[in-house]
Amino acid sequence: MVKVGFIGTGGFTRHHVNILSELDNVHVVGFVGSSQKKADAFAQQYPEASGYDSLEVMITREQLDAVYICVPPMGHENYEEILIEHNIPFLVEKPLGVKEETVREIKQKVKDTNHLTSVGYHFRYADIIATFKELLKEQKVGAVSGKWMGSMPGVYWWKNQEQSGGQFNEQTTHIVDLIRYLFGEIQSVYAQEVNAVTAKADPSVTVADVGLFILTLENGLIVQISNTSVMPDGLGDVGIQVYTDTSMIEWKMGHLEMKKVDKVERFIAKKNPYLSESKAFIHAVETGDRSKILSDYEEGWRSFKVALAAEKSVTEKRAVPISEIVE
Ligand SMILES: NC(=O)c1ccc[n+]([C@@H]2O[C@H](COP(=O)([O-])OP(=O)(O)OC[C@H]3O[C@@H](n4cnc5c(N)ncnc54)[C@H](O)[C@@H]3O)[C@@H](O)[C@H]2O)c1
Repeated sequence: MVKVGFIGTGGFTRHHVNILSELDNVHVVGFVGSSQKKADAFAQQYPEASGYDSLEVMITREQLDAVYICVPPMGHENYEEILIEHNIPFLVEKPLGVKEETVREIKQKVKDTNHLTSVGYHFRYADIIATFKELLKEQKVGAVSGKWMGSMPGVYWWKNQEQSGGQFNEQTTHIVDLIRYLFGEIQSVYAQEVNAVTAKADPSVTVADVGLFILTLENGLIVQISNTSVMPDGLGDVGIQVYTDTSMIEWKMGHLEMKKVDKVERFIAKKNPYLSESKAFIHAVETGDRSKILSDYEEGWRSFKVALAAEKSVTEKRAVPISEIVE
């Protein structure tokens, strides 16, 4: 039985606990919250788990095999360092944080200790993303565009630039990560962002709510990404479009479509990528075989670096090479 602890008692901890309940070999034993009260209230819903206000105490009391870190970008404290010191593998939700130095230091410690990690870029595990990758092998890619168009999540920290790092770091990072996964490493970013709507209604909003980004890849491809968080809940448009020498391909969360001159092929997602992500991580914890993990901390760092470069580009109003972000 793999004993798992969680850090964070919010929406995504609940989501992962539900996913893990589908695995017979996993036992969720504890939750670390931002206070003992919150942790206890959350743990009460799971009779076999306890609440803690400190990761160290959870480590002392429970025989942990792995930990899921599901805290907001500004709330990572020194959790990763503690887990590395205690040799406890972790799955950490994207994005890796907001502070460049902190994430870089963790990346280095993970590397030095060969620590077992996974980062929550779950789209990589989608069956239709595997199909997308296969389809691209047969075609010459011309133009690529990606988008994350939605509403502003209701959690208090998201609208605050210092706490979340903004839309590009928080959500559009999934698109950036898929661009890297499907098309190759990014060389530079040119970004423009504005707050067009939401700050006028709520002065505590400090993130941009509209952004346009041009990514130049190391292989010469140019990719355009756009995002917004101005729409009402319930409206959304997230996806990637590719125009090749033989087709137009469009990926949206649940399906993939390839149009050729004489035919259209549609692929519907059949597997839950979050379940595949957890299966790969738990398998690695049990066996030491990391081959099924599609995004480890080093990979997550590479996607995080693109967000750092985009932020720099907005401030300095120029295209920023990723190489300016120190390794
Ligand atoms: N991969 C995905 O599809 C996906 C989807 C949603 C959220 N996420 C990510 O999951 C993470 C958490 O998001 P959420 O939706 O659960 O947010 P949330 O606000 O619902 O929950 C965050 C929880 O962390 C707790 N917390 C905050 N600071 C803490 C600290 N220092 N120590 C311990 N606990 C602390 C809060 O009290 C809260 O319980 C974010 O990084 C988010 O981007 C990923």
